Amino acid sequence: MITKDEFIALYQEHITRRGADKLLDWMGKADFFTAPASTRYHLACAGGLMEHSAHVYNRLRQLAMAEYPEGCPYSEETLAVCGLLHDLCKVNFYKEDTRNVKENGVWVQKPYYTVDEQLPYGHGEKSVFIIERFMRLSLEEAIAIRFHMGGFDARPGDNSVSVAFERYPLAILLHLADLQASYLDEARGI
Ligand SMILES: [Fe+2]
Ligand SMILES: [Fe+2]
Repeated sequence: MITKDEFIALYQEHITRRGADKLLDWMGKADFFTAPASTRYHLACAGGLMEHSAHVYNRLRQLAMAEYPEGCPYSEETLAVCGLLHDLCKVNFYKEDTRNVKENGVWVQKPYYTVDEQLPYGHGEKSVFIIERFMRLSLEEAIAIRFHMGGFDARPGDNSVSVAFERYPLAILLHLADLQASYLDEARGI
């Protein structure tokens, strides 16, 4: 578990380029620290998005260090930007609602999340768009974040994911880190 203060400390330690403070300020005013990571799959709970982002960052760092034992070509800032910010598309994206559920023969109101898209700009591409409104990304960071879903959201006939993976190893590492976080860490309830 990561607290909001711990997340902010991690962010401020590693992400220091111009505009980083304004982006963090925007995240706080929006619902980054309270949003879930999904409606019903991984971390569908308040704070889930922040938690998932920290998991992806940890996994990305481990993958990068293991892949390049002689010296990682990516800066600590790049790893933090990609891990902690890849899912900013999920900010202002979920809405909490209630539904009636029968428990022991009695109807009770239970909270649940639905999607309430405020900015229809895709998924990875939307995260890039939001970040770029506050601070600059390198091309490799932008492409890694854009394609962090790998083939999951590829359109038929569009081979840009494979071109991105051929040219930018960071994109592969971020996709793998997202899979590990979602399907290993969060499935185990870490
Ligand atoms: Fe995502
Ligand atoms: Fe993710």
